[in-house]
Amino acid sequence: MGMAEQLGGLRKVKEESSQLESKSSMSETDKERMGPDPIRTRTAEFADAESIARLVNIAFRTERFFIDADRTDPDKVRMLLPKGRFLLAEEVSKLVGCVYVELRGERGYFGLLAVDPARQHSGMGSFLIAAAEDYCRAAGCLFMDLTIVNLRKELPGYYRRRGYLKNGTLPFPEDQHLPKIPCHLVRMSKPLG
Ligand SMILES: CC(C)(COP(=O)(O)OP(=O)(O)OC[C@H]1O[C@@H](n2cnc3c(N)ncnc32)[C@H](O)[C@@H]1OP(=O)(O)O)[C@@H](O)C(=O)NCCC(=O)NCCS
Repeated sequence: MGMAEQLGGLRKVKEESSQLESKSSMSETDKERMGPDPIRTRTAEFADAESIARLVNIAFRTERFFIDADRTDPDKVRMLLPKGRFLLAEEVSKLVGCVYVELRGERGYFGLLAVDPARQHSGMGSFLIAAAEDYCRAAGCLFMDLTIVNLRKELPGYYRRRGYLKNGTLPFPEDQHLPKIPCHLVRMSKPLG
């Protein structure tokens, strides 16, 4: 089943990119939560960098309690594009969700998962995670990795409920704005089997 069809029972979805074809593990419950508006999914192009950065920075305002800076900017988004891809979810022509996915040999990685605050708790995050997993699985990856900041207490449970387990720690990246509170990254992983 393609990414568009995953949502098709409940909403009309226009799938424009065959590269996003995937067998999502999104549950029927997740699909029902997505709501009635049409969502279009596609892979980002360079021209999308501004809107991706805007969405990520709005969504990641939730991290302002430990970091006084935007999460990204259009140049940083553009620098990621040759290494990986952003999967986008658009409502009419507005970007409402995105996730960055990278193939790293037998492991996949996703980051910068961001959902428009007005659309959170509607299944969009779960949908994008499933799409990222399907993309990596189809490319032959055996595992998926992600990292979270240890100060985000709600995230381990969110990812655990989607099959991820803690798998080590990493220092907070030096190329990011200095946090106000000492912190580190926690890696979480899931077999893609
Ligand atoms: C983390 C984030 C991506 C989650 O996105 P989301 O679209 O809200 O995620 P979902 O809707 O799939 O799931 C959120 C919760 O709402 C629940 N939910 C989904 N639809 C729902 C509905 N209609 N009514 C009530 N709850 C609902 C989900 O079941 C889930 O709860 P669970 O974990 O107990 O199952 C989003 O909050 C975000 O962008 N946060 C800021 C950026 C960020 O922190 N990114 C991750 C960094 S690692």
